Amino acid sequence: MTKGRRVLKIAIDGPAGSGKSTVAREVSRRLEITYLDTGAMYRAITLKVILENIELNDLEDLEGMLEETEIRLGEDRKIYLDGVDVTAEIRQPHVNEMVSPVSCISAVRRHLVAMQQTIADQSNGIIMEGRDIASRVMPDADFKFYLDATIEERAKRRCKEQLEKGIILSLPEVSAEIKNRDNIDSHREDSPLTIVEDAIVVDTTGMTIVEVVDRIIEVINEGMR
Ligand code: DC
Repeated sequence: MTKGRRVLKIAIDGPAGSGKSTVAREVSRRLEITYLDTGAMYRAITLKVILENIELNDLEDLEGMLEETEIRLGEDRKIYLDGVDVTAEIRQPHVNEMVSPVSCISAVRRHLVAMQQTIADQSNGIIMEGRDIASRVMPDADFKFYLDATIEERAKRRCKEQLEKGIILSLPEVSAEIKNRDNIDSHREDSPLTIVEDAIVVDTTGMTIVEVVDRIIEVINEGMR
């Protein structure tokens, strides 16, 4: 889908549990554009760091690993790390715990941002979600959304999501994990989570997925007129 002769680019940023993934996936389905979950890419690299026992301050080892690693996002919405389907494993608590520290490392960010920009350039329209999409990956995006919700609501959503996968976690446990990740993601030196000046902020607290998706599509339709 194009706006004029340009490819439509939509950026969605926001903290953990703000509903970004579900909303972005549905918007991509409705607009028939590519969907990219950049958090899944950081999670896949984190899993490799864990599996290979890489020290986060061993830059040489880390950079070598990045060069040799293949991340593939399948048409089936699955994520493959060096050819292995890791879709379920990257959502496990051991990855949750490590993903924010790994995402602070500039070498990791440079590598993944370059991949994300290539995917955007090769697409016929894209909706990308993460933490630095509007500020770093696609500062030229046509639409920039920032999704937010209260910590209570975000923790509840995460608990429910995990329960659907058979993982039982307590609300305080999830709430603490989210707060810790928010804190690291918002205060890191390289590309922290921020609300850019031209972002449209949507507080999704108390809203259903359909309501959020409708609101986003409405803004896009108005902007494209
Ligand atoms: O969206 P998520 O919860 O799956 O993201 C997991 C982690 O990845 C998040 O805590 C920080 C990092 N991340 C990032 O630093 N930049 C992005 N664009 C996306 C995710």
